[in-house]
Amino acid sequence: MMEFGRRFRVGIFGTSHGPEVGVTIEGLPAGTPIDVPSVQAALDRRRPVGRRLATKRQEEDHLVVDSGVADGRATGSRFRAHVANEDVRREPYDRMRDTPRPGHADYPARIRYGPEADLSGGGIFSGRMTVGLVVAGAIAQGMLASKGIEVVAFTRSIGTVDATVAEEAPLRTLAAASAANEVGTPDAAAASRMEEAISVARRDGDSLGGVVEARATGVPVGLGEPFFDPIESVIAHAVFAIPAVKAIEFGAGFRAARMRGSEHNDPFLVRDGTIRTATNHAGGILGGLATGMPIVFRVAVKPASSIAKAQTTVHLGDRTPAELVVTGRHDPCIVPRAVVVVESVTAFCLADLALSGGFLP
Ligand SMILES: Cc1cc2nc3c(=O)[nH]c(=O)nc-3n(C[C@H](O)[C@H](O)[C@H](O)COP(=O)(O)O)c2cc1C
Repeated sequence: MMEFGRRFRVGIFGTSHGPEVGVTIEGLPAGTPIDVPSVQAALDRRRPVGRRLATKRQEEDHLVVDSGVADGRATGSRFRAHVANEDVRREPYDRMRDTPRPGHADYPARIRYGPEADLSGGGIFSGRMTVGLVVAGAIAQGMLASKGIEVVAFTRSIGTVDATVAEEAPLRTLAAASAANEVGTPDAAAASRMEEAISVARRDGDSLGGVVEARATGVPVGLGEPFFDPIESVIAHAVFAIPAVKAIEFGAGFRAARMRGSEHNDPFLVRDGTIRTATNHAGGILGGLATGMPIVFRVAVKPASSIAKAQTTVHLGDRTPAELVVTGRHDPCIVPRAVVVVESVTAFCLADLALSGGFLP
């Protein structure tokens, strides 16, 4: 399924080396302001350009809105937008056609779709498909901002380098600090160690993974749909659309399993006339509904599979062992580019739930 959501329905189209990639959105309320420059700014955060430690594929990612907007506002009909794929080099992928890359989607995709599958550049399994997620997320962020809901994601760790990030830090401070370095982390000291770790991995012909954390504030108490559409399920469902995401945890996450109830429970208190909790092990969610505390979750991003080292694979024709040296242009660490994608997915999930629950008109 290349579509997601109930009331804010996001559809992804295109392929890595086809003419374009893009997004459709059904359910954008008529009159919603569509601020194209801020959508373009979000797309620019996803681009590798200006990052020394990213893929050399250079795409302009110039946003073209095809339908659903007039005079800067949604018309209420289907929204469609795309960016062109311009920097396409198919040869490395033609050479790898019959020798699937370990760790990439080539093998199961070839078996499922057959030899006709267009897997050039990773096909529909490419990180390039996340362009559409970012467009939808940037529009959703505008809708949420009108209700005082803010969403920010940042790099929490790369390889074994962890960032130190205050729990109470204002989201705008985190966003500004994360924008100041190539790896998208608010911890400047950790940023240089992360950059160094990526350089070392790249020099070794290897790659690194990491963790992206997302936080959302101003989420109204009670947002979320009980049972099958709790906030956790909706976000997790969409987050796993992001290529290379392998795990997610909310609040204390896996640490909760080692705590006692007395430690894990977040005591309620009143601060400035508002009911809050003293701690936020719940990650802002109880019973699938928002508590009013920041929604906090982390996703694990695996190391990019396309590495320069020789790897062992199998020739799909005669099923003989083969050695594969991946060529083409690849990210030695996906994490910095995944930050805006995680933020975007969080935003359109919350917009969908806000529309379902009547928190947005
Ligand atoms: C922004 C972004 C860029 C990516 N760039 C690369 C890349 O350069 N090389 C690579 O092997 N994988 C890259 N990936 C990850 C692959 O697309 C992904 O690992 C592959 O589709 C298999 O899916 P899975 O890892 O979710 O199982 C990227 C992912 C994202 C989100």
